[in-house]
Amino acid sequence: MALLETRGLTAFYGDFQALFGVDVTVAVGETVAIIGANGAGKSTLLRSISGVLRNDPEACIFDGQPIGALPSSRIMALGVAMVPEGRRLFPSLSVEENLLIGAYGRAGQGYWNLDSIYELFPILRERRRSPGTALSGGQQQMVAIGRALMSNPRILLCDEISLGLAPIVIKDIYAAIPRIKEAGASIVVVEQDVGQALRVADRVYCMMEGRITLDGTPATLSRDAIHDAYFGAAA
Ligand SMILES: Nc1ncnc2c1ncn2[C@@H]1O[C@H](COP(=O)(O)OP(=O)(O)OP(=O)(O)O)[C@@H](O)[C@H]1O
Ligand SMILES: [Mg+2]
Repeated sequence: MALLETRGLTAFYGDFQALFGVDVTVAVGETVAIIGANGAGKSTLLRSISGVLRNDPEACIFDGQPIGALPSSRIMALGVAMVPEGRRLFPSLSVEENLLIGAYGRAGQGYWNLDSIYELFPILRERRRSPGTALSGGQQQMVAIGRALMSNPRILLCDEISLGLAPIVIKDIYAAIPRIKEAGASIVVVEQDVGQALRVADRVYCMMEGRITLDGTPATLSRDAIHDAYFGAAA
């Protein structure tokens, strides 16, 4: 059964149309990657699902319920959490305070709490009193993921969690994904790094210019098909 489904999702910034009839589904327990070049509409898709951008009620269905027109606070309360592009920590707050802010009304409703997040990312326990600004990029990303997990989401939406990080740090961050999945969440990762997306995902969608141009399992998608779907067949 689909936990999350978009149906002909469109999105606009003023007069500019950024999404054109996007249909994606995410099953319970599934990890789905969304890949695509700069400006393809990946972040816009996540913003539409999480309610930052409003839509028709039926354009987005979560656990059988139309959520397309709900405000983001309501969507979050249903169990949809986002790790936004650029991490967006509160710089004046400590690691621990940033994590606690993520709990909203859903703390204690599942596996994730301060302890289990410090177990997932041990460095954060050591640095729990440090302000967000004193952290490396990788550590900030761990806090951003931990903050989203504190609400014990049923689905975690991750926007380019590897962006700007060194390969060794990306490996540490991505090592968390299977554990998040084991703890019961479905996951959507937006990635520009195709190799990374194919390694982590059960299923992949490729976007170009506001449309889904390809979807399938990593095993069934050829490099050529991905190249064409990512850059256009003429590229
Ligand atoms: N706030 C905004 N106002 C106007 N246009 C926007 C805004 N945000 C995004 N766009 C436009 O919408 C389109 C899709 O942008 P989006 O950020 O969703 O792409 P993306 O796939 O996430 O790209 P990137 O990989 O660079 O993050 C682009 O043409 C972009 O210029
Ligand atoms: Mg983006």
